[in-house]
Amino acid sequence: MQKIHFKAPNCWINDPNGFIWYKGRYHLFYQCFPYSAHWGRMHWGHAVSKDLVNWEEKGIALFPSKTNDRSGCFSGSAIEYKDKMYIYYTGVNYTEEDPENINCCINDTFTAAQLMITSEDGMKFDNITDKKTVIPPIEDKKIGDKNHTRDPKVWRGQDAWYMVLGSTVDKNGRLLFYKSSDLKTWQYLNYCEKDGFGWMWECPDFFEIDGKGVMIFSPMGFFNDGNGYDSVAVCMLSSFDENTGKMELSENYQLFDYGIDLYAPQSTTDEDGNRVVIAWARMPEAVITEKGEWCGMMCIPRIVDVKNNHVYIRPHTNVKNSFVTKLSAPKKSGYMLKTTLKNGESINVGGYVIKRENDKIATDRSKVFNIKGNYRLIAETPVINDGYELEIYVDEHLVEVFINNGEYVISNVVYGLTEEITGKNYDLYSA
Ligand code: FRU
Repeated sequence: MQKIHFKAPNCWINDPNGFIWYKGRYHLFYQCFPYSAHWGRMHWGHAVSKDLVNWEEKGIALFPSKTNDRSGCFSGSAIEYKDKMYIYYTGVNYTEEDPENINCCINDTFTAAQLMITSEDGMKFDNITDKKTVIPPIEDKKIGDKNHTRDPKVWRGQDAWYMVLGSTVDKNGRLLFYKSSDLKTWQYLNYCEKDGFGWMWECPDFFEIDGKGVMIFSPMGFFNDGNGYDSVAVCMLSSFDENTGKMELSENYQLFDYGIDLYAPQSTTDEDGNRVVIAWARMPEAVITEKGEWCGMMCIPRIVDVKNNHVYIRPHTNVKNSFVTKLSAPKKSGYMLKTTLKNGESINVGGYVIKRENDKIATDRSKVFNIKGNYRLIAETPVINDGYELEIYVDEHLVEVFINNGEYVISNVVYGLTEEITGKNYDLYSA
């Protein structure tokens, strides 16, 4: 059993996949290399939860079995139809393996196809008998790229099913839209692009809240400033025309999380119909324990709302409600801290510093991130006009700072927090 944050079970994990409330439980699949704490030939790991707080590991659900996914089962999504679970994902086939590590390829030489696998109960997956491929590698270079086209997210529209894929043409990221009436045959409809958003768009996710469309995706090559990470998850208001497959993206965008560490968010609807999203917290170094090494974890599941054309991202109520026991003394991790800051004030949470300056919230992890490489140590929100209520969830390797109940969020991966807290007027709660 794991609690609050799902962490790689002695291996490598990245993106959340196939996130769904299905037959009375949440299913969280995830990109996984089961043999070591490094990225490699991708499988889908599987965990289930009744409440988005406690997670039970279920082992490997999807593994390479066909020519089209022989080199990995990349990201994708799940839907429920007539009691069955349908999973869509990207299968990759390396054309030039790295001879020194056959779990990787050389110079991005692979092809990508979109695959489907179904399950009667969300637990058993027949990787061998299912035919898998539903969309073969794209041949028309004007539509999308033969290798960099991936991460199908499927949803039900008014009277058909829709799929969005991330892709690239002429070094510009784009989205591809498909339609299906039977979940097996997919017809290409249209694409959508936007200048200045990197060269390839990964892990798209589209949903509507109270009639407002929200598009979340993860553009690669977004910052281009030499610092890690170069890619980041963004969200934008958008509208989608089901007849033409045309998507209009708003001029404005927000970062899904201003800490830049979170990536590849994926959403579903929770038991009560709220839009809930979970994302991968990228970890530059594995954690070594007595049981082995692990690398990668999921953030707290978050509820998404749209108010006054702004996307709010707050901790899921079940998680928030589990931090009830008031703590009288600080501890190293596993607590939530509530405080509010005035301009010029700061709080130091075990070495992670959060301050309010010029009407922004800024964080500094330099004392708890002694990692080689040009990783970003400082993060900040845009200007906030009203209120500085902070809810800070502290785990040993992830600090998540929610501002004004989700107006903005900064989450950062950390290594080596201490027990010390310095600041004024705060309350601590333990799960
Ligand atoms: C995003 C991503 C996806 C891909 C998967 C491979 O982190 O690169 O685009 O499907 O990870 O593990």
